[in-house]
Amino acid sequence: MDGNELYIKGPQRMHGELLIQGSKNAALPILAAMVLGSGVFLLHHCPHISDVDHMLEMLEMAGCRSRWEGHMLIVDTRQLGNHRITGTGGGKMRSTLVLLGSLLGRLHRAELPYPGGCTIGKRPIDLHLKALQQMGVIFGHREDALVGEVQKLRGAEIYLDFPSVGATENILLAAVLAEGRTAIHGAAMEPEIVELASFLKKMGARIRGEGTSLVEIEGVKKLHAAEYIVPADRIVAGTYLFGALLTQGDIRLLHVPVAHLGGIPTLLEKLGAHVESEDDWIYVRMDRQCSPVPYVVTAPYPGFPTDLQSVLLAVLSVASGMSFIEERVFEARFQIVPELRRMGADIEGEESFVLMEGNSRLHGAQVEAKELRGGAALIMAALAAEGETCVRGMEYVKRGYEDIIGDLKKLGIMVQ
Ligand code: EPZ
Repeated sequence: MDGNELYIKGPQRMHGELLIQGSKNAALPILAAMVLGSGVFLLHHCPHISDVDHMLEMLEMAGCRSRWEGHMLIVDTRQLGNHRITGTGGGKMRSTLVLLGSLLGRLHRAELPYPGGCTIGKRPIDLHLKALQQMGVIFGHREDALVGEVQKLRGAEIYLDFPSVGATENILLAAVLAEGRTAIHGAAMEPEIVELASFLKKMGARIRGEGTSLVEIEGVKKLHAAEYIVPADRIVAGTYLFGALLTQGDIRLLHVPVAHLGGIPTLLEKLGAHVESEDDWIYVRMDRQCSPVPYVVTAPYPGFPTDLQSVLLAVLSVASGMSFIEERVFEARFQIVPELRRMGADIEGEESFVLMEGNSRLHGAQVEAKELRGGAALIMAALAAEGETCVRGMEYVKRGYEDIIGDLKKLGIMVQ
């Protein structure tokens, strides 16, 4: 790989076993939650990805200290005291927003760069602000920073108009040290919410209902440090499972909480794959061309995850017939359609619907990733394409995939 480009010669077959990295979207809110307790935290199986590095920069700015020992992260929050986390380019990264709830919980003040939108959508934060205002927070802004202050966080009855993952996380983080009871109606049910709640309970928080649409929190006075293991990343696992279908290969993924994959195994079978799994491993083999799936719609968990929509697009472009995908979570998540077309995919589409004719024969091309999951999908498509593909924009992929080249090599793929 040269800089931020990856060259792949296809077609190749995926074959082998892989241990899946820790989950980016579980690790980030867990790191933010450490702000709520004073002590030394141990976080095992934490992914070495740029979004985690960025989150650690913010924690250090708040006064925390952190260091890696292999994949174990040691975070010391005993000197935490600065609520002003600005000027670190945090706006470039959505996940800084989850520091809002925990800084308000611990310091009663927070100043964060406005989280920028990105190519997949405007990414508003109205649900976060409305809920935290109900808990007594007053918001203002200074230059390009969001400022929040509260005398004393108080529990509230909160109704979310949409089961926003980030808003549910921010409310959880603000509620665990608030006065009284908080109820989140219409909460997100993603596995990352359950992991965050489990971590907070290890710190001494009182939470129930996580993983359902009603989550209740009883505020406590103080929280302490804890040790935790980050679960495998369900989206990274799903990326490689669909890659195995694209390349008509066979792979076994280890230490994957299969329950976190929701309906993915069933969809893999619908696409024609042979699937075997138990609680913490899944094996998939594809002996033939994928079958089409007439209609897939992305939805909050346990629906089909929007983060795997791009790689499913690539799979359905080569399926033996017409398929249809509707994107209902983000308003602009078909960035890779022009890139897949350049590789020979026959895709018709507008903002939130795309139609794949299927039976496309993908060929190598110069393609450009514009965001994390689209980049990973282009790499999977390149494995199935005839000839050499150059994927530019690997800096986006590194935000969420710790070592996609190393992973692919373990799955029998040659990349340079
Ligand atoms: C989290 O983003 C994930 N990121 C995303 O993964 C994932 O795609 C998304 O959840 C949905 O599952 C992290 O966990 C760091 P949302 P988040 O709030 O919390 C709208 C990846 O590739 N909305 O559930 O930002 C929003 O615009 C990333 O790992 C509001 O309107 O997602 C979107 O259309 C990409 N107002 C929808 O809700 C708000 O206040 C879902 O957003 C908040 C959100």
